[in-house]
Amino acid sequence: MNHNITLTVNGVDQHLTVASHQTLVRVLREQLGLTGGKAGCLSGQCGTCSVLLNNDIVNACMVLAAEIDGCEIQTIEGLAQGDRLHPLQQAFLDHGGMQCGFCTSGMVMSAYALLQRSSRPDENEIRSALVGNLCRCTGYADIIKSVQVASRSRR
Ligand code: FES
Ligand code: FES
Repeated sequence: MNHNITLTVNGVDQHLTVASHQTLVRVLREQLGLTGGKAGCLSGQCGTCSVLLNNDIVNACMVLAAEIDGCEIQTIEGLAQGDRLHPLQQAFLDHGGMQCGFCTSGMVMSAYALLQRSSRPDENEIRSALVGNLCRCTGYADIIKSVQVASRSRR
């Protein structure tokens, strides 16, 4: 069964027709071409698909698009202003937080959600915010440092 829905994605209204079983990550990637969020495990385990849904971080692979008619979505593509990276993206770039193309987008979105609700998170808060974003290749030290730098730059 198909459903007509409207999502506000990165500030722009999108009128979409989605199947009942279609997940938000699929709609973003396949219908809107927003491929920054990755389709990793597709089972809510890895965080590569993280986006903001009405300002809360969610795994887009666990959200049915048909159930979020009228909601606001923010993806990694909505952070930069033109050619200017968001300070959080810049900090990830400058301080080694940017790891591979699979995990980085989700890490940045989870960190972004954290900084929306806490302007001065301590290391434990940052670790908690990133607990759903897995990377088994590297340590998290540079990622945490990047978030700390970004939070300082906002003060
Ligand atoms: S792809 Fe969504 S949590 Fe892994
Ligand atoms: S999953 Fe991205 S660097 Fe490990």
